[in-house]
Amino acid sequence: MIITVTLNAALDKTLEVPNFTPGRRHRTVDQTTMPGGKGVNVARAIKRLGQPVIATGLAGGATGTRIVEALNDEAILNAFVRIREESRTNTAVLDPTTGMHTEINERGPAVSEIEFELFVEKLLYLAKGASICVFAGSLPRGVHADVYAILIREVKRLGVMTMVDTEGDPLRFAVRAEPAVVSPNEPEAEELVGHEFNDLDDRAQAVAEITRLGASEAIMTVTDGCYAQVLEEGGQAAYRVRVSEQEPRSRIGSGDAFLAGYIAARYGGRSAVDCLRYGVACGAESTQHFGAGVLDPGKVERLLGEVEAERLGVGAEIG
Ligand SMILES: Nc1ncnc2c1ncn2[C@@H]1O[C@H](COP(=O)(O)OP(=O)(O)OP(=O)(O)O)[C@@H](O)[C@H]1O
Ligand SMILES: [Mg+2]
Repeated sequence: MIITVTLNAALDKTLEVPNFTPGRRHRTVDQTTMPGGKGVNVARAIKRLGQPVIATGLAGGATGTRIVEALNDEAILNAFVRIREESRTNTAVLDPTTGMHTEINERGPAVSEIEFELFVEKLLYLAKGASICVFAGSLPRGVHADVYAILIREVKRLGVMTMVDTEGDPLRFAVRAEPAVVSPNEPEAEELVGHEFNDLDDRAQAVAEITRLGASEAIMTVTDGCYAQVLEEGGQAAYRVRVSEQEPRSRIGSGDAFLAGYIAARYGGRSAVDCLRYGVACGAESTQHFGAGVLDPGKVERLLGEVEAERLGVGAEIG
């Protein structure tokens, strides 16, 4: 079983608004509402890829009830701890004329100590039957920035492989807890490492640097694939994985789809480089759908043929 942890679950509302202009009144031509938060998106994609997954985390108020009901409607196994304060509703405006999207994310609810203790108890119970646990997304108010780090250490003790996709201080702390995998996008990785990346060398060195900070493997996603420092039988290896850029319908959640693909492949026992290639194909395919974590496994397989992986050595010249 794979567990996804979403401490700041949300109801994601996407409004399709042609010619969106701030300060004007608009009508939507299409709209969708789905449960979200990164861990939930990852769970949706893993389920679609056919691997067993359960989504846990915190959900509160009437919005929390809608999140859980909508997960049930999608037949995504879930075990959320209910909290008193209302979960977020996040609104994204997608302009089909320009392809631009604008996101407005509500401030998350505050969590009490008792509610959080209940969550930890639930997570450790679930972890007894799991082999992979993913911590993804932002934190609600009331929990310290090192909670992912604390949970990683606890879950690792049970022999579960841990993966993290978050940013800022929660990521900084989490990396030091030595998770198996972290998967920031480029701006998140730049913030973690502390400088901007300009070329291939910078990016290859960044993923290596992140492993020195504590993660066993580091993957940095970029628009056309990823850079990764992974463990193989022979030891550490660096890869640049590429896919041709797709004309996106919506890029929201492509990082979540990447991570889901990587995890699904890993759960299926594939090699590190195959997991990276599969993740990149999933991220790319998901851009063809509205809705985070939505992808078509058949089309992922077709795209996989176009995904190239290059092993980076000293003095590599792959851009
Ligand atoms: N236009 C695109 N064409 C092909 N692949 C794409 C495109 N956009 C994103 N991807 C794929 O999706 C993956 C994740 O992309 P990105 O780094 O943008 O994620 P992200 O910023 O973490 O997204 P989010 O956090 O919103 O889910 C990449 O590995 C990339 O291969
Ligand atoms: Mg991301």
